[in-house]
Amino acid sequence: MSTGTLAAIRDLPGLHEYMDELEERLHESVSVHGGLVSVVGQEALAAGGKRLRPLLVFLSAPNGGDPSISAGVAVELVHMATLVHDDLIDGARFRRGRASAWSAYGPDAARAAGDYLFARAFAELSQSDSPAAVSVLARSTLALARGEALQRSQQRDPATPVESYLERCALKTGTLFEAACLLGCGLSPTSRLGDFGLWLGVAFQIADDILDCAGNRGETGKAAGTDLREGTPTLPLLLAAREDAVIRAALAGGPADDALLRVAATGALEESRDVALDYARRARACLNGEAHREELEALTHAVVNRER
Ligand code: IPE
Ligand code: IPE
Ligand code: MG
Ligand code: MG
Ligand code: MG
Repeated sequence: MSTGTLAAIRDLPGLHEYMDELEERLHESVSVHGGLVSVVGQEALAAGGKRLRPLLVFLSAPNGGDPSISAGVAVELVHMATLVHDDLIDGARFRRGRASAWSAYGPDAARAAGDYLFARAFAELSQSDSPAAVSVLARSTLALARGEALQRSQQRDPATPVESYLERCALKTGTLFEAACLLGCGLSPTSRLGDFGLWLGVAFQIADDILDCAGNRGETGKAAGTDLREGTPTLPLLLAAREDAVIRAALAGGPADDALLRVAATGALEESRDVALDYARRARACLNGEAHREELEALTHAVVNRER
């Protein structure tokens, strides 16, 4: 995250207390059952992460309303579950600066730990006493899986339409941001925070896909170049493939030696950033007098201008 804006948000009254309680509850929730899944979950938790989705829950709370801890815990647990499964799917060995779950404990343990974290997420949210909230998170979790399935169908296809890529981003990333905002605002029927979250999530994923091409592992905690190696057609790779036959071939499964340098040379990173900024703008247009409007707005800049 760009440090200036996020640092300012982090000083909001009540946020430190919220985040401290969140960490405690996450820890308790993952420890409920013993065994390997709990160990893997604890390690994923201890590795940190930006806790962006619980932050969205907090920032979406209405004036005078208490931000929901159960909702924050539930969305972060779903997020952690998807990351544990995602690294297995992507063959990614590093996460949050450490060995990913599957590379440390093997694929079976990672699969089981991800399932465990999903189960814990719903157990937490069921304490909120709102079937509608559980249903929002269930819908989002299904969408995450659909997004991953769509991505699989696009693998090694340099002709993937940009529209389908954007649909995938909305499904696999946007819907959880959307759920965080919806749960945070108590499913207010008048608020457009759900749409805000959806578009913010798309901008966030495009920025992530740029970082996969040009990011620094010391900052992101993840190895760069995973998307190209796996043939995952992200926006920067799709745009660069239109210009450069070597990148097109690499995306389709050919040798990828200096392909990332070639991607940077095409201008695809800047073009992708413009698209991310467009989605950030779209998110901002959904804001209207929220209690934390200023911070939500700052977040739309921070998700694009980030290094981690
Ligand atoms: C990574 O999410 C997965 C994507 C949706 C791109 P984050 O970048 O929020 O991961 P952490 O929680 O900070 O590690
Ligand atoms: C986001 O896509 C994954 C999820 C929403 C689970 P990526 O596969 O690009 O995420 P990272 O880069 O591994 O964090
Ligand atoms: Mg991944
Ligand atoms: Mg992935
Ligand atoms: Mg990525």
